[in-house]
Amino acid sequence: EKEKELIRVSWESLGKNKVPHGVIMFSRLFELEPALLNLFHYNTNCGTIQDCLSSPEFLDHVTKVMLVIDAAVSHLDNLHTLEDFLLNLGKKHQAVGVNTQSFAVVGESLLYMLQCSLGQGYTAPLRQAWLNMYTIVVAAMSRGWAK
Ligand code: HEM
Repeated sequence: EKEKELIRVSWESLGKNKVPHGVIMFSRLFELEPALLNLFHYNTNCGTIQDCLSSPEFLDHVTKVMLVIDAAVSHLDNLHTLEDFLLNLGKKHQAVGVNTQSFAVVGESLLYMLQCSLGQGYTAPLRQAWLNMYTIVVAAMSRGWAK
């Protein structure tokens, strides 16, 4: 319906430039929660946040995140088919020391990136549509933390 259309249309442009948009999102994330930088162990010896953000391993992770979002957007009609994948992805994040509470901050950073990139196109219904999809993705990942 309308929500899915808002997501698809906005992702059409953003999805073509995944890395730069992902970098905006993660720069915001580390501004809001700098301690998350330590969970990327390949980043422990970089000088500034900007140095960290430009390391190849880090950009790989940004690409991985954007590909998961891409998968969610292409599966809007059947998000449940991603459930097992997302549950396992959650398990991997628990293993590297991510806390489920941090996903709220990731969500804020995603919205921040959308706002920066879409400008006037960033409307209240669009924001809500993305938030709804993100909530489903994060709920599925969070199941990976259950015992
Ligand atoms: C892997 C950290 C959020 C998708 C990893 C790894 C770390 C990490 C340390 C392992 C090393 C690597 O592959 O680079 C974090 C932190 C996050 C976060 C601190 C924010 C709290 C996300 C989100 C997604 C995501 C929101 C997607 C929706 C992935 C994927 C992998 C990965 C696809 C590869 C998993 C595999 O090897 O199979 N993450 N991550 N990450 N992350 Fe994240």
